Amino acid sequence: MKGAAVFPGSRRLGLAGNVPEPQMEGPQDVKLRMLQVGVCATDREIASFVFGTPPEGFDYLVLGHEGFAEVVETGPEVRDLKPGDLVVPTVRRPCADPACVACRHNRPDFCITGLYREHGIVSMHGFMTEFVTGDARYMRPVPPEVREVGVLVEPLTIAEKAFIQAERIQTRLPWGKAAARAVVAGAGPVGLLGAMSLRVRGYDVTVYSREPETDVRADIARAIGARYVSAQGNTPEQMAAGIGNIDLIYEATGSAHLAFGMLNVLGSNGLLILTGVPGAHGPESLDMGTLITKMTLKNQCLLATVNAGDDAFDQAIVHLTAFCKRWPDAVRSLITGRFTLEQFEMPIRNAAGIKNIIEMAS
Ligand code: BGC
Repeated sequence: MKGAAVFPGSRRLGLAGNVPEPQMEGPQDVKLRMLQVGVCATDREIASFVFGTPPEGFDYLVLGHEGFAEVVETGPEVRDLKPGDLVVPTVRRPCADPACVACRHNRPDFCITGLYREHGIVSMHGFMTEFVTGDARYMRPVPPEVREVGVLVEPLTIAEKAFIQAERIQTRLPWGKAAARAVVAGAGPVGLLGAMSLRVRGYDVTVYSREPETDVRADIARAIGARYVSAQGNTPEQMAAGIGNIDLIYEATGSAHLAFGMLNVLGSNGLLILTGVPGAHGPESLDMGTLITKMTLKNQCLLATVNAGDDAFDQAIVHLTAFCKRWPDAVRSLITGRFTLEQFEMPIRNAAGIKNIIEMAS
């Protein structure tokens, strides 16, 4: 089979022509034909050799963790899936340590040892290839109504996990759920999908991002009933003026500076959610005393979150279906570039657009 691969040893990117076709190993296994695979910043980092580990015995790693596929074969003990069904495979697989309470509870997204594996990232081939096999329990079913945009499920899971956690954290407030105001920082796919999820959850949403107010991302924000404020010419304080108490900030910019800057506009009892992986950018000066004083006096919380569990995948599928009913054009316009497998290097090398995808098959 062909696969979009990164060869870390020789620091090379290319199409591998001889990826072994995966075999059905257990009675619970299913075989998938990949339909679409999204490209994200993580893929770009792997392709620039920042991280990414090939599976044992391989000198290359097949890329891709934002998968969407059709079931083509099921093992004899698979009950809930059949050939023709659409699925999104989850990304992370548990570590083997008996003492890892998270993995033993099937929550490798909270793995304690760090020895988890991830499709297309750590020790497992990714989805930018023709066929994939795996245990049916890792394949989340997707209804046919969202076939055109099923590839958006995985990036949406980042937001869904964050908001499932956020809602649990905010039950700390004695008055329960009140009218809530949210700011989404960053209008990339994770930000805009997060904004859609917050709208469906009833939040008043402001999207704050670097693109001008004439950009398509601003149009998408407005189409879903959110306010858009450009960071070009508006400081976070100017953006926040007039919103009222900001209860939740969902940060998806990848900029460490901006992420912490958002604390200056977070309201009383508010929660700042970090989803970026900016990496080391050298020291920056920060008045930590002021920061902690403000956070304490305002009862604020900081939540950082990565990857997602089955609950977030299933919630993402329900919400994406809802988005497609409410804002079909806005959802469709998130996918700005479609490439063949042979062209996979183009969206990896050039990050233009919102979400670029590889169309594996139709
Ligand atoms: C993926 C996560 C993954 C993380 C690892 C993200 O792009 O969406 O599933 O755990 O990268 O860095």
